[in-house]
Amino acid sequence: MKNIRNFSIIAHIDHGKTTLSDRLIQKCNGLTKREMFNQVLDSMDLERERGITIKAQSVTLKYIDKNKKIFFLNFIDTPGHVNFSHEVFRSLSACEGVLLVIDTTQGIEAQTIAHCNYAQKLNLTILPVLNKIDLPNSNPKKVLEDIKNIIKIPIQDAVQCSAKTGQGISELLKKIVQIIPQPSGNVQNSLQALIIDSWFDKYFGIVSLIRIKNGSLKKKDKILIIRTKKIYIIENLGIFTPKRMPKDKLYNGEVGWIIFGSKKIDTTLVGETITSYKNPSNTLLPKFKKIKPKIYAGLFPFEPKKYILFRDALNKLKLNDISLFTEPDNSKILGFGFRCGFLGLLHMEIVQSRLEREYNIKVISTAPTVIYEILLKNNQILLLDNPSKFPKLDTIKEIREPLAICHILTPIKYVGEIIKICIQKRGTQQKIIYHDTCVSMSYIIPLSEIILDFFDQLKTISSGYASLEYKFKKFKKSDLVKIDILINHIKIDSLSMIQHKKNALKNSKKIIEVIKKIMPRHQFNIPIQASISNTIIARTTIKQLRKNVIEKCYGGDISRKKKLLKQQKKGKKKMKQIGNVNIPQEVFFSIFQMN
Ligand code: GTP
Repeated sequence: MKNIRNFSIIAHIDHGKTTLSDRLIQKCNGLTKREMFNQVLDSMDLERERGITIKAQSVTLKYIDKNKKIFFLNFIDTPGHVNFSHEVFRSLSACEGVLLVIDTTQGIEAQTIAHCNYAQKLNLTILPVLNKIDLPNSNPKKVLEDIKNIIKIPIQDAVQCSAKTGQGISELLKKIVQIIPQPSGNVQNSLQALIIDSWFDKYFGIVSLIRIKNGSLKKKDKILIIRTKKIYIIENLGIFTPKRMPKDKLYNGEVGWIIFGSKKIDTTLVGETITSYKNPSNTLLPKFKKIKPKIYAGLFPFEPKKYILFRDALNKLKLNDISLFTEPDNSKILGFGFRCGFLGLLHMEIVQSRLEREYNIKVISTAPTVIYEILLKNNQILLLDNPSKFPKLDTIKEIREPLAICHILTPIKYVGEIIKICIQKRGTQQKIIYHDTCVSMSYIIPLSEIILDFFDQLKTISSGYASLEYKFKKFKKSDLVKIDILINHIKIDSLSMIQHKKNALKNSKKIIEVIKKIMPRHQFNIPIQASISNTIIARTTIKQLRKNVIEKCYGGDISRKKKLLKQQKKGKKKMKQIGNVNIPQEVFFSIFQMN
């Protein structure tokens, strides 16, 4: 039987995951830096040449220990571009262990704790890896203390290393095979394999990354997706080294790719269990929790004739993005499109940029909103993800907004300022715990206040040190109103927003001023108005064009919000003609520029 170790890496952004993975590949597969570079470059060229996206999401490494014993290490990366919890969860469910990589110049971050909790729930072996010890300000001792006190896992196996210089990497490999358990399962049992990831390849059709729990799989095998009862024939299979290497067979415990003999995408495969058609198992492997989107926005193809292409592209993206929700939408102003649900702003940004880069489809997006729960007078409950569909006021009994529980981890000196913004965001404190050098606090804050710029503000006031993890808690009754925006007397449905009553007037004034700044002048005066239930509550006017050119009033910034805006700005030529006025894309994002 092969000696196998399946593991994944948990790390906060920039703590060194990529560098460490490269280092492990280099060390085990005997690649020189140059070869490594060429290898990566090769596959990128291939991608470019064929216009396809093949990405090694797992690598099988061959490790020989000092007794000449051979181990196959399957290192499963969190797929692609996303650094979301559910992506991490997906990779973790195919592993027996994780490397918890922590930058010893930075320490533990809130997100790291959340990911560790997942790993603990899945009963995985967690191996702490203290990285960047080559740096003068590295403080492994403090990080070890924090791991013990905050994450509460044993530290006796922790490895100190530098992914950059290679120091400690041999020790790390030794520890991996020593403490991460051999996968269980039996080759004699009927096939059970979990689809960890799945993507569409123009030439091969659907490709999936799988982890075999029981049994084995070979070319031409007829397989069955247990839940959907769909049947496929395996056209080819193999492993990534990181190149795609075909194999004759894959066995229990192994991680590899399979090519289904199908180009038809009619379902999301990620999380499904595969079995053999001839000798099927009935038992589903634990499926990943489907995470509900947290924010919703309308996406509309900039060129309406690309609607069908746009729809197909979204379907392809959904193959490996189980959290992307789509539903046909129709805006009076922007035409046919999709209402899409995302996990957060970063997710939304990624989907938009993939549509543009991979499918050449430019989209206009409306500002994101959270989902509201509306109790109608007839006692029906309506889940509202689109403010333009807000029901008539006299039919509403109660409006409830989503609240999130936020866990913030920060160095002590920023606590005061952070409490201030939490209060500003209508937060209520739940818990605050002082550790040696940092503080962990929990607040309940309306989700709508978090999604726009809370994270950015947190990073700004803490010079980047505070970290945030949040999750939906419950819906709570709140004093909310719908604000409509009219440009040149036309109600722009995609600009409607839901706001707390307390902030309604202030924010209405802000948003019309923002729109005024962004909109080009025309040959005539353009009124911009904000209204609640058809009563105008704020108004401004864009004066008709005289000689001067249009002003541009936005500046760059490092934050995510600003980056999004910048992207929108790039599409500045995107002007939508509505009535006899031209509205630039940024107007639909004006809510971001209110602060
Ligand atoms: P994301 O891909 O953004 O999630 O980041 P990551 O966690 O993969 O981090 P990455 O490997 O890209 O490393 C971030 C930065 O830290 C890079 O500039 C690396 O060169 C540097 N770095 C990583 N490991 C070490 C180390 O051991 N020592 C030093 N000095 N720098 C390191």
